[in-house]
Amino acid sequence: MNRKELIEKFIEFFESKEHKKISNASLIPENDPTVLFTTAGMHPLVPFLLGEKHPLGKRLCNVQRCIRTQDIEEVGDSYHHTFFEMLGNWSLGDYFKEDAIKFSFEFLTKVLKLPIERLAVSCFAGDKDAPRDEESAKIWSSLGIPEKRIAFLPKKNNWWGPAGKVGPCGPDTEMFYWKPNDIPAPEEFDPDDKRWVEIWNDVFMQYYKNEKGNIIPAKQKNVDTGMGVERTIAVLNGLEDNYLTDCFLPIIKKIEELSGKKYGEDKEDTRAMRIIADHIKASVFIIADGIIPSNIEQGYVLRRLIRRAIRYGRILGIQNFTTKIAEPVFEIYNDYELLKKNKKKIIQELKKEEEKFLKTLEKGIKIFEKIANESKEEISGKDAFLLYQSYGFPLEMTIELAKERGIKVDEKGFKEELKKHQELSRTASEGRFKSGLADNSEATTKLHTATHLLLAALRKVLKDENIIQKGSNITSERLRFDFSFPRKLTKEELEAVEALVNEKIKEGLEVKREEMTLEEAKAKGAIGVFENKYGEKVSVYTIGPDEAPFSKEICAGPHVSNTKELGKFKIIKEESSSAGVRRIKAILE
Ligand code: ALA
Repeated sequence: MNRKELIEKFIEFFESKEHKKISNASLIPENDPTVLFTTAGMHPLVPFLLGEKHPLGKRLCNVQRCIRTQDIEEVGDSYHHTFFEMLGNWSLGDYFKEDAIKFSFEFLTKVLKLPIERLAVSCFAGDKDAPRDEESAKIWSSLGIPEKRIAFLPKKNNWWGPAGKVGPCGPDTEMFYWKPNDIPAPEEFDPDDKRWVEIWNDVFMQYYKNEKGNIIPAKQKNVDTGMGVERTIAVLNGLEDNYLTDCFLPIIKKIEELSGKKYGEDKEDTRAMRIIADHIKASVFIIADGIIPSNIEQGYVLRRLIRRAIRYGRILGIQNFTTKIAEPVFEIYNDYELLKKNKKKIIQELKKEEEKFLKTLEKGIKIFEKIANESKEEISGKDAFLLYQSYGFPLEMTIELAKERGIKVDEKGFKEELKKHQELSRTASEGRFKSGLADNSEATTKLHTATHLLLAALRKVLKDENIIQKGSNITSERLRFDFSFPRKLTKEELEAVEALVNEKIKEGLEVKREEMTLEEAKAKGAIGVFENKYGEKVSVYTIGPDEAPFSKEICAGPHVSNTKELGKFKIIKEESSSAGVRRIKAILE
């Protein structure tokens, strides 16, 4: 079975169980500034997992493209990837454990025809937040999974979510497949034995993690599942290595052709080939979703991926190769219109970044060697910053090069240098990549507050209290705000809106956060379109004095604490977004 067949079979199966197929969303989360990339199929569904009604109903399924950046260092073995596809089915307050597990079991054993003798499962062992999941274990038993093949594991293994800082989460049950073809599966399941490969995860989202970090019962019980396409294809074809599946093989072949080296022959070469294949594939998809290499946020991850691939290309003796390696990516994923549509741009960006990097790489490596020879145990923060600033070395690359020589890098010192020079936003520093899901940058936080001022100013200037938010997308460079309004704004109106926002910034208004129930929030006149999203209690952000606030919105935050932190607000574009909806793009200078 190949990738496309697996996806088709999965969707067909769940459609036969009354699920509706939803679209494969962007890798850049639309409404969640706490995360850089879409990391799981459930991510775009967060509002619906929290109770908002989905237009397609309560049973959904799809294949979702995902990026996980916390695994970057692990890429190079046979199964870690930054980019992967995830199959998923969801119940939004509809079926729960019994049906979810039965669907999974039927798909695995009847559709994929995996022998039950090679299956094992794990269930949540229970702790202070949630009880031991005997219920799931019983369901597995009733389907014929022997007791010895059911492991109970702690939160570290059998709990999923939230995807960002807050959100839906819960215990899960995971399915494992015994990979070796020549050794029969042991009677007892040992979760630490890597020959058992996890292929599917059914999460029972009946909890919500709030801003205080507390796990509280959710209003709606959901099911969220995730099956990794690459791993499952490997398993179905009896392959030990995901890079030998049709999700990767054409890329590996291309690298072999360019380098004249053979995959699988030399350990270091094989690792380099995997890293290049993974990183270029991920880069193609990230550019397709509208990001270009830069020094901040998603753009920095992209830059880091491309540059890391180039560096590993040197190990194989290849140069100017990124666009050639991208070609098979377009072929493998020719079911993505997005790639076809953006092919020219993707190729251009790869080429540009490779040229830019190559120019300084040679010089940088020489400098690195000089520094490394001089430093006995540690490369100083200043030197790491010099390499970063003048030679375009991502910090991680300096660390890797240093590691190869058995020396360390003063990461803390590097970060201090970074701060001093204020070249990067806070998030671009290493912390964010390690966790994948760290704090928002100052820039996005400011723009987030500016969005509230903008909505309030629009309502005042246009004298229309019915104007509501229709969408918001914030990058560290700009805000994009969609709102209901029937016509184009005049130049004078735009100037008045801009002036009013700037006036409120100058006034240095306090931004205050309070928690209250949705009813209290409404009674106090707070506005907010995603009302159902936030569980029982909501956060309300008030800008200005309590007696006469300029803005009061229900919102998950985060925000600055005083408007004077924002600088100068400037509208750069006003255009139509769709019928009855206008779009404003604005920046802070
Ligand atoms: N969201 C769950 C996962 O990523 C299904 O494993």
